[in-house]
Formats: sequence, C-alpha cells, structure tokens
Amino acid sequence: MRSIVPDYLNEALGDVEAVASGEPAGYIPELALADPERLGAVFATVDGEVYGAGDSDVEFTIQSISKPFTYALALSDRGFDPVLARVGVEPSGEAFNEISLESDTGRPRNPMINAGAITTHSLAGAEGLRPAERVERVVQGLSAFAGRQLKVDEMVCASEMENAHRNLAIAHMLRSHGILTEDPRAVVEGYVRQCSVLVTARDLAMMAATLANRGVNPLSNEQVVDQAVVRQVLSVMATCGMYDAAGDWATQVGIPAKSGVAGGLIGALPGQLGIATFSPRLDAHGNSVRGVSLFERFSSDMGLHVMEVPPAARAVVRSNRVRAGAEGMTRIFRLQGGIRFAGAERIVREVLESAPSEPRVVLDVSLVHSIDDVARRMLLEVARRLTLDGHEVVLVDPEAMIPAPDPGDGGRLTVVSEL
Ligand code: DON
Repeated sequence: MRSIVPDYLNEALGDVEAVASGEPAGYIPELALADPERLGAVFATVDGEVYGAGDSDVEFTIQSISKPFTYALALSDRGFDPVLARVGVEPSGEAFNEISLESDTGRPRNPMINAGAITTHSLAGAEGLRPAERVERVVQGLSAFAGRQLKVDEMVCASEMENAHRNLAIAHMLRSHGILTEDPRAVVEGYVRQCSVLVTARDLAMMAATLANRGVNPLSNEQVVDQAVVRQVLSVMATCGMYDAAGDWATQVGIPAKSGVAGGLIGALPGQLGIATFSPRLDAHGNSVRGVSLFERFSSDMGLHVMEVPPAARAVVRSNRVRAGAEGMTRIFRLQGGIRFAGAERIVREVLESAPSEPRVVLDVSLVHSIDDVARRMLLEVARRLTLDGHEVVLVDPEAMIPAPDPGDGGRLTVVSEL
C-alpha cells in the first residue's frame, strides 16, 4: 500500500495550481524575478516523518519566516525580561513594514513586524557580539531549527540592502528611542542577511516541526530552545504571525503561522506537525496567495484548527474495581490516556465518589501515556489524602510516569511495576 499523505498533498497542490492572482514581492528586485509558478508543500511530523509534494526542495529566501526563530534565539540567549523590555507582544493589526512604535514605551508592538524583528535581531546572541558574530549566531540558530547547515543568498541580500530605505528609517527611529543601542545600519544589514537565508519548503517544515515538538528537532533530536521559549514564540505567531490578516487567519485556519515575502508560509501545530508551503505570488498583506489557500484547505480537511479539540478525552478512569486477596480488600483505579488538569479533576472526583473503605487503594498508571505537572501533583495529593484517611496507597507505574513520587506531608506511596 502507498501512503495516503503524499497523494493528498499532490491533490491539494493540483487544486490550487491554476490560481494566478497576486504578484511576487516587487520591492526587492531579486525577489521580483522569482518564478511565480513554483508550488510546493511539505508536512513534517513531530516524530520526524517528512512528506513533500511539488517544489519541496527548491531554495528560496526565508524572509520574515526567520522572525519567530530569531525571536526564539533572542529569548533563549538573553532571557525573557530584556527581550520583553524592548519588544511587545501585542498584535499591531498593521502591515509588516509599518513605521510604528508603542506611544508610551517606544517599543515595537511585536516581533513579527519589521520594527520588532530588527530589534529582535539585535538581541540574538550574547550581549556585545560584533554584527558579523551576531549574524553567525542567527544563521547557526536557524540551521539548528532546520537540522542542516543553511547559507545566505548574497544576491538577494545585496538587492534588499540597496532598497532597504524603509527598514533603515525604522531602525533609525528605534535608535532614537533607545530601543536599538547600536549603529542602525549595521543592525539592518544583519537583519537583511537573516532574511536572505536560503531554505526549502522541506527545511521550513522541519523548522516548524521543531516548534511543534517543544523545541526538539525531530531528526537531529537537538533541543534547540526550551519549551517556555516555544510557548512564547507560538503564542506570538498565533496572534501576530499574519500581520493585518491575523484575525482572519486565526478564525479560518487556526494554526500558529508565519509568512515570508519570498512566498514561504509555515504553520506549527503543537504536538502534531510542522507544515510549509511555497508559492511566490503574494496578496496585499504580503502573504502567499496559494499558500494561504492551501493552509485553509489543510486546516478544514484535517481538522487542524488549534481551537478544535477531540471530543472529551475517553474516560481517564478505565476501571474502578474492588479485588479480594490474601492481603485483604483492594480498591483499584486503573487510569489511562493523557492526563492534564481536567483528567486529574475527573480522577479526584472518582476517588471521592467511590469513598473507598478498603484498606489498600491502588492507582494504576500503566496505561497512561502522558501526565503533565499539575496532574502529577494532583495525583500525589490524592495519594497523600488517602494515606491520611488510613489507606495504604500503591502506585502501579512500570514506566515511571511519575518519577520519584513524593506525596509529602504525611503521605506514603508504595511504587510497584505490576500488581
Ligand atoms: O524586511 C523585509 O521587508 C523583508 N526582508 C521581509 C519581509 C517579509 O517577509 C514580510 N512577510 N511576509
């Protein structure tokens, strides 16, 4: 049998192939020369499977898709506070190259518009790096997200720099507000080099999959940035990634995303996959026309909208039984699936409603595949309270889902790998 996914991708590309509206970016002369017919799409799963269709291995410049990744590097290299002090997280509802700053703080509104991205570029790497070293840090960081060494397209870089009047104006304005502290031209040169990094749709899908996979590149297994950084980046992509089309995108597609004026578009669906499309003709917002259309289709065909969740998780309590044995009566709660707050609350309720009178109570998590921090703490508190009520509490946990469990303060828990 052939895999279903590439056939689906080819069919989706076929459906948008004839759409000819929009124009390649005209304000960067080298980009205006792009072949407008190029069309590709790639899915990369969080466990490293990559499906490509069409022009998935054609190189083009990353442009604004570099912004969320450089923001991630700045957060990672400098910490949240210094970055947030200089760049906000509010959607601007403005075009990507709007010359605007927050009136009270002088900060750019978010890191996805050029003003924010130019500032973010200046914050990548350790403080005090020379401009060339900072570019090196950014290119290496983008390469780590992609899982292969990326390089700069010198032609596009020079072409953009010759026409960078607007970005230079933005950088000078940032310098006058003390948001940039260095030579504005050097920062714009670095930012333009960052935007000129060559990628393929396959690279972009891997970069997006790294965000979807909590910062770990699914192929190299490198933890590129930590989870707190990923959460921040995905949140900003979800609210600001599509500029003045962010609201339409959030409601219709609902995947944290970022576009670039060379025609790339990425979406990162936490826990599932990274998606990238490539098609150079842009709409009025600077977003790829056929890319947007493909994402709308992917989202509705495959139920990828982040606000669309599966029906309430199958009962986390698989069974609740009493067993008689040599050691007396035992109440056994067999738990299953992924447990987060709502699942843990359901377990607390099950235990309360059962009001176990048996001397032993067993919490069996052998069928649990994930348990987050709050759920883990709630289960330990259940164990503690059961101990205080006079029960012997046993945790069946063959895969150490709850490592080194400590119910604390009067709680006692015996851990076994099977009953
Ligand atoms: O700064 C610029 O104008 C370009 N280097 C990047 C703009 C961009 O990709 C906007 N996104 N769609």
